[in-house]
Amino acid sequence: MTALAERHLLGLEGLSREAIEHLLDTALTMREVLRRSVKKVPTLRGKAVVNLFFESSTRTRMSFEVAAKVLSADTYSISQTGSSVTKGETLVDTAKNLDAMHPDVIVIRHASSGAAALVSRHTRAAVVNAGDGQHEHPTQGLLDALTLRERWGALDGKRVTIVGDVLHSRVARSDAFGLTALGARVTFCGPPTLLPPELASLGVTLATSLRRAVEGADAVMMLRVQNERMDGQFLPSSREYSRTFGLGLEQLEWLKPDALILHPGPVNRGVELSPEVADGPRSVILPQVENGVAVRMAVLYLVAAGHAEEHG
Ligand code: CP
Repeated sequence: MTALAERHLLGLEGLSREAIEHLLDTALTMREVLRRSVKKVPTLRGKAVVNLFFESSTRTRMSFEVAAKVLSADTYSISQTGSSVTKGETLVDTAKNLDAMHPDVIVIRHASSGAAALVSRHTRAAVVNAGDGQHEHPTQGLLDALTLRERWGALDGKRVTIVGDVLHSRVARSDAFGLTALGARVTFCGPPTLLPPELASLGVTLATSLRRAVEGADAVMMLRVQNERMDGQFLPSSREYSRTFGLGLEQLEWLKPDALILHPGPVNRGVELSPEVADGPRSVILPQVENGVAVRMAVLYLVAAGHAEEHG
């Protein structure tokens, strides 16, 4: 096994192009396994993977579970509801107690930025960030990169526009790190209240006009409006937002004919994307989901390899 250079996968920030390409190449091999009629290989037999999800999830949680099971790892799932967090146990104590049970990998989703890094300091297990607050969602960044790379061959010089609630989006941050490392030019577009100027330090262009931002783009990633993270008045109304930043058949005319439409899910149909666009021929939303399983198989395999080298 060739492990990742880092023991954990906490984010895509700072990962080299070579490391990302290696992850994506491994994911393509894994996808072949996933597509077989018998989806089972012994690669991670005897390894224990804990899925610690303190926020709601369908795609990420399920795909980590599918990924681990296809690779023959034993999986254990904990949600906030039903865990001792509801009795006041801290995240650090949770990590230390889980560590005492000798897991090989801990996958964590948490509402706080930095939660995955915190857990990584209190366990011998490899830690995979499945989304921490507004910080990063590295496996989403990888699956988006894989989805685009397989359609284009390479991302060099390609223009990717990410539209919507950028302020609250860990997906936008991981995409920015991952896609720019692979040579793409990334634009963030959204209302000024959801587009803080400091985001330009990620090496992206900022835009507040949807039309200008999507004209000439090779791919457009529409983000969900994260109402659960908005404690202030960021938007006048959902209808107003949809009129200005939503992508429907009318706005689709502004795009290049072969531009791809992505969305990390879950989609707020009729808000950021019309159903016709979400389900239309340019949408690669479901291929993103399949690639999500493949990427998570690759990540579990590679971090478990690093874990085996340290503790084997
Ligand atoms: N894209 C994503 O993280 O989806 P879930 O919240 O359903 O996992």
